[in-house]
Amino acid sequence: MKMHPFAKIDLLEMDLMDLASVVAAAKHFLAIETALHGLVNNAGIMATPFKMTKDNYETQWQTNYLSHWVFTEHLLPLMRQTAKSLPPGSRYGPGSPSARDGKGEIWLLSVHPGLVETNLGESIAESGSMIVNGVFSVFRKLGFFSNADEGSWTSLYGVANWDMKAEQSGDYFEVHRRFGEPRWQSAAAKDAKLAERLDEWTREEMKKQGWVS
Ligand SMILES: NC(=O)c1ccc[n+]([C@@H]2O[C@H](COP(=O)([O-])OP(=O)(O)OC[C@H]3O[C@@H](n4cnc5c(N)ncnc54)[C@H](OP(=O)(O)O)[C@@H]3O)[C@@H](O)[C@H]2O)c1
Repeated sequence: MKMHPFAKIDLLEMDLMDLASVVAAAKHFLAIETALHGLVNNAGIMATPFKMTKDNYETQWQTNYLSHWVFTEHLLPLMRQTAKSLPPGSRYGPGSPSARDGKGEIWLLSVHPGLVETNLGESIAESGSMIVNGVFSVFRKLGFFSNADEGSWTSLYGVANWDMKAEQSGDYFEVHRRFGEPRWQSAAAKDAKLAERLDEWTREEMKKQGWVS
């Protein structure tokens, strides 16, 4: 805000631990907007104590995955429609959220921000795991942590950088790597069949519970 004091920012409130609020937020967005050029599903929690949400899912699973899936599913038709109306790799006017689309295709990236000094550390500290806390304090002393601005770079690369290419869509990026260079992924993360099964399960479950149609 210091650099762009006149930027127009509207807030859309939702609690990812409450799917009704996620669906309501998506519907509200669709009621007031006619285009969507980019979406960053960034919110998340880590190492929180085991607890169920009011929707009856484990809190971290719902916050970090299920709710983002539901929110995205509701917004996808508008994103596709926006993408169809633009040339490939388009983005909107200067200073506005950027698009990664064209010909109806939506580009996507999975990102790892690196080790970033944010509030996420608090939940790790509160988790009471001496090993994790010990490793993190050594990393901190060694200067491995970056600040929150740097932590946003990978997301911004995906949503706002002209250098991103269509062939990079689907990659997994990390901030400390040279941009455009995918990060190492575990076998499970690269397992397309597993990803398909997860998507099928999520769609079926969310339909059954009435969160998507
Ligand atoms: N920091 C790291 O080193 C690191 C490393 C790897 C991955 N990540 C990932 O980076 C992402 C951002 O984390 P961060 O480091 O910026 O952590 P953070 O400072 O704790 O920020 C988390 C954000 O998620 C939002 N959030 C949490 N629970 C929510 C809920 N139920 N409903 C709506 N919003 C909720 C918070 O909103 P409020 O501010 O309103 O609470 C906050 O804006 C997470 O997905 C995390 O897994 C971070």
